[in-house]
Amino acid sequence: MLITLEGIEGSGKTTQIDHIAAYFQKSGLEYIITKEPGGTVLGEKIRSILLDPGNSNIHPMTELLLYAADRVQHIKEFITPMMDAGNIVICDRFCDSTTVYQGFTRGIDVSLIQRLNSLVLEGLAPDITFVLDLDPEIGLKRAWKQIRDGSRSESETRFENEKLQFHESVRNGYLELARQEPDRFVVVNASLDPVKVSEQILEHLEKYFKIQK
Ligand code: TMP
Repeated sequence: MLITLEGIEGSGKTTQIDHIAAYFQKSGLEYIITKEPGGTVLGEKIRSILLDPGNSNIHPMTELLLYAADRVQHIKEFITPMMDAGNIVICDRFCDSTTVYQGFTRGIDVSLIQRLNSLVLEGLAPDITFVLDLDPEIGLKRAWKQIRDGSRSESETRFENEKLQFHESVRNGYLELARQEPDRFVVVNASLDPVKVSEQILEHLEKYFKIQK
């Protein structure tokens, strides 16, 4: 099983992943946490290129292909073996980030991105995708606060440096994808207190597992 979390900068994915992990731990389920970009040693190197604020001149197509390269390595080296071994894989961002950031927001043809995604994924698809939805102004404020207090790295701020309009497009992109695939996406109100956000997520997971039993 593959669970992905998506959302704008500062939407609280990391905190929510910790809550999901605690729930799986309590339920005796085998799970593993990973992220994109940077879920492998090679991917960490790709991540540092992609998120370096100094690389403001990366062409959108270069950006797209670097995310795709990171994902191929991640799937082959980590996600598929972990799933085959019976783990639930919880991934912080996945293919929907590419559709939303490089497609809807940077403006690369979405049908090209879908073709690239299907080439990379080879049939793999998230079973559930949680979209942590909130006003980008709040998200960016949170993200910059974390950068200032050191809990988020200053060397990874290329996207935080984008204008508010960029982040609004990302938010709308996720909501659009959720409308297109309501069976897979769960949109969660991420402006609430983190415990309240986790209640929404865990309620959905409980229902999901009851249905699967
Ligand atoms: P994060 O790990 O702090 O969420 O940062 C990852 C950044 O990379 C985030 O701004 C979204 C961006 N991104 C894309 O633009 N396309 C992608 O396919 C992925 C996985 C992430």
